[in-house]
Amino acid sequence: NANASSSEKEAAGNAAASLVEDGMIIGLGTGSTTAFAIAEVGRRVREEGLNVLAVVTSYQAEMLAIEAGVPLTSLAEHPVLDLAIDGADQVDAKLNVIKGGGAAHTHEKVVAHSAKRFIVVVDESKISEELDHFVPIEVLPYARELAKKQFIELGGKPQIRLASRKDGPVISDNGNVIIDVEFGVIEDAAELSQKLSTCVGVVEHGIFLNTDEVYVGMKDGSVKIIN
Ligand code: A5P
Repeated sequence: NANASSSEKEAAGNAAASLVEDGMIIGLGTGSTTAFAIAEVGRRVREEGLNVLAVVTSYQAEMLAIEAGVPLTSLAEHPVLDLAIDGADQVDAKLNVIKGGGAAHTHEKVVAHSAKRFIVVVDESKISEELDHFVPIEVLPYARELAKKQFIELGGKPQIRLASRKDGPVISDNGNVIIDVEFGVIEDAAELSQKLSTCVGVVEHGIFLNTDEVYVGMKDGSVKIIN
């Protein structure tokens, strides 16, 4: 429940925002947890005169950053980021992560891999011993049926993500469809990641293997750091 855990999300987002230092080029992820980090970076820009430039991962992050007063740049101008902050749908004990609940994981992965340090912010409910969340996969609309067939061959149960306030599929910021694929418990995230990357028609999938630290907002208001 998004409301029940919003103070946990805020604690994690604020803690990650405190890692941002003067002169940094940062990456800003997507989702309700990162939204708190973006707001806090904006507050520090306005109140502390913090000097940063940010690359966004989605229309949502762009809108929030502009609203908060965080100055923007692009990966074309700044291909190396000092730090990136982003949310996740699930995190396992080895810091493997599933993302893409907001359909933004393709740009999020580009930003995560462009950053020297990739920080994931979550509430406690996202932490799991093993990964068993469905894997969001961005697919070229033209290749959607072929992609589904390949996901089934890999043991998955694919479902095209439908929009909630529009008839038809969710269309990503890049103009593609999202196929959510249920794999049950994912024993080897690296192996599945590699296999999904070789599927024809796949733009990017939501398994992230390069998280440096996870900031977990706990029910008691504290933030636990896992690395
Ligand atoms: C966006 O596509 C996702 O990767 C989000 O980062 C992820 O779904 C986390 O969002 P919440 O913080 O809203 O749960």
